This record gives sequence, structure tokens and C-alpha cells, in this order.
Amino acid sequence: MHMEIPDIKNVPYPGPEAGKSALRSILKTRNILDVLESVHSEMGDVFRIPLPGFQPIFLIGPEANRFVTVTQRDDLRWRNEFDPVTKLLNNGILVTDGEYHDELRHAISPALHKHAIHDYFPKMLIRTDEVINKWQDGFEIDMLVEMRKIALLIIMDTLCDVDFSKELENLWFDIKNILKYISPGIWIFNPDIPRPGYGRSIHRINLFFYQIISERKKSGQKGTDLLSLLLENPAFTEQLIRDQLLTLFIAGHDTSTATLSWTLYLLSMHPVILQRVQQEVSDVLNGNEPTLESIYKLDYLEMVIKETLRLYPPIHIGNRIAARDLTFQGFRIPAGSRVVYSIYLSHRHPNYWGDPGEFKPDRFDNENNRNRIPYTYMPFGGGHRNCIGMAFAMIEAKLILARIIQRFNIINKNTHLVKPYMGATLEPRPGVFLFTEKKDTKQTSF
Ligand code: HEM
Repeated sequence: MHMEIPDIKNVPYPGPEAGKSALRSILKTRNILDVLESVHSEMGDVFRIPLPGFQPIFLIGPEANRFVTVTQRDDLRWRNEFDPVTKLLNNGILVTDGEYHDELRHAISPALHKHAIHDYFPKMLIRTDEVINKWQDGFEIDMLVEMRKIALLIIMDTLCDVDFSKELENLWFDIKNILKYISPGIWIFNPDIPRPGYGRSIHRINLFFYQIISERKKSGQKGTDLLSLLLENPAFTEQLIRDQLLTLFIAGHDTSTATLSWTLYLLSMHPVILQRVQQEVSDVLNGNEPTLESIYKLDYLEMVIKETLRLYPPIHIGNRIAARDLTFQGFRIPAGSRVVYSIYLSHRHPNYWGDPGEFKPDRFDNENNRNRIPYTYMPFGGGHRNCIGMAFAMIEAKLILARIIQRFNIINKNTHLVKPYMGATLEPRPGVFLFTEKKDTKQTSF
């Protein structure tokens, strides 16, 4: 079965060479960011990339971001039946549209409200310590792996009250495998292509979630976490609960894993900035365990995380399909077109950012924040389907990074060249290899 190709002749494109090099880059290095950057600077804010089978239309910059996420939100659908993300998540909030999406969002939101996250805070700290207590002095550690462990333990403990420690090992391969299943690859060009090697992992992950649901049902335990919330709601069947849990499990841990490991990487490459963060953490925490109050005071660390999310937004593009004919800045976008808003290109748009490739956290000080043009900075998307986990993610990232920096010196001896990789999120590959040196501080949360 193949998708219909709409007539988008009026949208500029850079010639077949760019299409070929995008194709080569997707298949070989899983990184088309450089190709997109050069096409953007050649063609401007609206262009299409001719790929075999389809031609995504890229809309870049604040107006485009607003158009896709707010003004035309109802005419630009997320769900694409050919996309493995849809196949895996079924009716998960991320892959639904319109009223159905909004109903799911309404039901899930209380579990990710700021107040709920405040209750999750102690668990976040315990799970962070659980992983970093095992770090040995003077050893090189892959932070991409370590941050995934912390993020997985936290997402399962907070949203489902489940201790995921044992499953870290049991399900590690399956988790990585389903992330591979939903990552860009050759299937983009031919959705019918057989994709063996994933069925068993999907089955094992499904079993895990159905078991959690049935155990909680049997126990009759009531709580305020997401699982309780969904079980109490008569609109949710077991399958629909599984869809939401798996969606939040993936969306809520892989993004945080990338954010945390990119931040540690950038800090390790910028000693002056690292030192300023260390000083702030030391002044604010004053040798004590992080608390919610102290985390809110770590302003510079927050600026560092925001700047990391600008340079390496874990979700670097948003894909949509036009439900009807649309026009953007005079360009006709016929129904059925694939429309993409690029968070990555918007975050490096030279019209809105000076030295766009440089790591400069001061861009996010109060004055710059006040003067920023809306929709130029979109790490969490925008509009009604922006990231539901934004507050969760920011508190979690600040806490984990503050705790690591409080307890360890991190040293990068440049043993590996790090590059962005377009997996399910934009990841630092082959990993972030840092040496950790224990500091002499109190460790009271275990
Ligand atoms: C730094 C970490 C994170 C980043 C950068 C991020 C980014 C995003 C972005 C850009 C979107 C919108 C995608 C689009 O427009 O197509 C999104 C949606 C979403 N995010 Fe996040 N996210 C993060 C963390 C989280 C966390 C911690 C959770 C859950 C606990 C989460 C759950 C979701 C869900 C469920 C959606 C879909 C919302 C909807 O369709 O209404 N995310 N995220």
C-alpha cells in the first residue's frame, strides 16, 4: 500500500542532489541535520526535500512553528497509520488527534501537574542516588547509559509506583530494541518493507505493562499516580491504559536521557560554565540533599539545560499530515502533504540567534527571556499538544544534574568523538564517556 503523492510543485526544493544526500545521510549516519541546515540556508524558511516516495515540506521559524502547533493545529494531523510509532503506541495520546486526543490529555494531565510532580520529588532523588551510588572513583562511565537507567527508574516509580530496578536488566535489550523500531530508517520510504526482529521485544514489553495493570487491579491499591488515575476512569480499557503507559514510558524517559547526557557532555566540554554550575550547586545546596525549594533556586543550571535543549532538542522535528489544502506564506500545501516543523533549525536560525552553534547559557537570562520572539524556542513543542511532561522533565533534569555535580567531578578526556544521532530522540553517539571523581559530601538519601 502506498501513500498518495500530493502536488506540491510550488514549494521550492534544492534539486535532486539534496534529496540524494539526505537519503544517504539518513541511511548511513542517521543524521540529516547538516544537509537540512545547508538546504535551509540556501532555500529559506519553506522548502521540500525530494525523497523516494514522498517529499516532506519543511516550515521553519517562529511563524511556521505557530502555524503548525497553534493556528492550523486541527488541520495538521499527527496520526499516520504507516508510522511505527502509531503501530506501537496504538491509541497513545501522542499519536491521536482532535477531540479524542483532547479527552486523553484531560484524563492524563493531573498526573503530570506541578503539584503531582512535587509529590514525585523524593522518588526522583532516591532513584538518582540508586544509580550514582554505584559509580566508582576514577572510572570512565557512559552517561548515555547511566542517564537512561535513572530516567527509567524514575518514570516507572513516579507514574506507576513500580520498582523498575530488576527490569532494568531484564528489559534493557527490549527497550533499546523498541526505540530502534520507532527510529527513522528505510521504512520511511517504504512502509511495506518487512521489519523482522522486533516482535518479541514488543511482546515482552506488552506483557510487562499488562502485568502491572492486572497486579494493581488485584491489589485494589489507590493512589494519585497515573496508573491509579487511569484505572479509576471508566473510559479506559486495559488496552487503552497500556497505550498511555507505554507512551509516557517512552516519551518520558528517552527525551530525558538525551537531555541529561547532552548537558553533561556540553558541561564537560566547557570548563568555565561547568565551574559556574558547580559554584551555584555548592552555594545553594550548601552540602545538603537537594530539596524542591533548593532546586527552584538553581537558576544558572536551568539556563544551562535550556541552552542544551536549544542546541540539541531531543525531539528535533514534529511531523504532521495536512488534512485539507492549506497555504503558508503564499505556498500551497495540498491535503495529504507531509509537513514538518523543525525545532532544530528554528533553534539555530541565524535571524533569531547570534552565534547559533555556540553553547552560551546566558542567552536564557531574564532579560534575554523577556526579549525573545515567541515560537523561536520550542524544545517542548507548542499549542494544545505541547509536551505534557515539561514541568516533570525540567524538575527531574535539574535535580539529577545538581545531585551528580554535588557528588562528583566529571572529567572528559575526549576518548570518543560525539555526534548527534537521529534515533527515537536526538542522541549523543556513541555515548558520553566521562570520568567521575567522588567528592567528599554527605550522602543521606539511601
Ligand atoms: C527534556 C525532555 C523532553 C522534551 C525535550 C520533550 C519534548 C516534547 C515535544 C517537542 C513534544 C511535542 C511533539 C510534537 O509537536 O509533535 C512532546 C510531547 C509529549 N511529551 Fe515530551 N518531552 C520531554 C519530556 C517528557 C516527559 C518527562 C514526559 C512524560 C512524563 C513527556 C511526555 C510527552 C507526551 C505524552 C507528549 C504528547 C503530548 C500530546 O500529544 O498531547 N515528555 N514532548
